[in-house]
Amino acid sequence: MTAPFSTAWVRTTRFGTLAAVPMPSGLEPVGQEVLAQLHPREAALATAERGRRQIELAGGRLAWRAAAKERGLDGSFPLLADSARAPLPPPGFSVSLTHKEDLALALVAPDADGLVGIDLEGGARDRSSIRTRVCRPEELREVDALAEAERWPNVMVRFAVKEAVYKAIAPRLGRFFGFQAARVDVLSREAARVTMFLEPDDPAFDVECALEWLDDGRLLAMVRAQVTSARR
Ligand SMILES: CC(C)(COP(=O)(O)OP(=O)(O)OC[C@H]1O[C@@H](n2cnc3c(N)ncnc32)[C@H](O)[C@@H]1OP(=O)(O)O)[C@@H](O)C(=O)NCCC(=O)NCCS
Repeated sequence: MTAPFSTAWVRTTRFGTLAAVPMPSGLEPVGQEVLAQLHPREAALATAERGRRQIELAGGRLAWRAAAKERGLDGSFPLLADSARAPLPPPGFSVSLTHKEDLALALVAPDADGLVGIDLEGGARDRSSIRTRVCRPEELREVDALAEAERWPNVMVRFAVKEAVYKAIAPRLGRFFGFQAARVDVLSREAARVTMFLEPDDPAFDVECALEWLDDGRLLAMVRAQVTSARR
């Protein structure tokens, strides 16, 4: 068991360097010894927040620093955020963060390979009722045809992949887009395919995705989006 706010692991994935940092439960303010491991501007972002948000901000930034170090970045670059909360990565890189309950994850990749997005979702509780919000009509038909026990894992894949897609693409588009803007075809427990349905004037994206199930049943979705034409 890795101590909270220490690096649990860093590894190379298909889409870049992935780092994991456990977070403590509760609402205790993040200690000075943890804040001291962040860039001062990242520490300032964390101390401007309270409770879980402060813990998540510190956990995510520590995971980013662990992945960045593995890629040879020297730690002098603070990972700040734009007004929509999207991370502002160093030149030449794409960065995505996710945090859920006791775990924060960061994916760092060269932006020449595409824009990355990650999302950690799930757990034991069945939340398949979110499917009407998350699914396009054709996806909903597929989900509703499944046996009840298969629905939540299937919806979880669609939800996690779509949130990861949003994190990868929204900073490039510079605007919000909802769940109807992507269709996720669930090919197996480990594989899914993404088709984008953006506005006619938006760039066209080719999106690859990878799914990893953690031992506790949570799902990590990772995507990489490449612009295939600046405007359709
Ligand atoms: C933004 C959103 C995807 C975040 O997901 P979440 O499950 O709430 O939170 P997570 O813990 O997984 O991720 C949070 C991290 O996402 C990143 N993030 C937040 N907004 C972002 C944005 N606009 N663009 C890129 N990354 C963003 C941040 O790094 C944030 O962590 P930080 O604030 O500590 O830096 C979600 O709240 C949302 O708005 N979803 C609706 C939009 C959507 O998914 N559309 C579907 C398109 S097909």
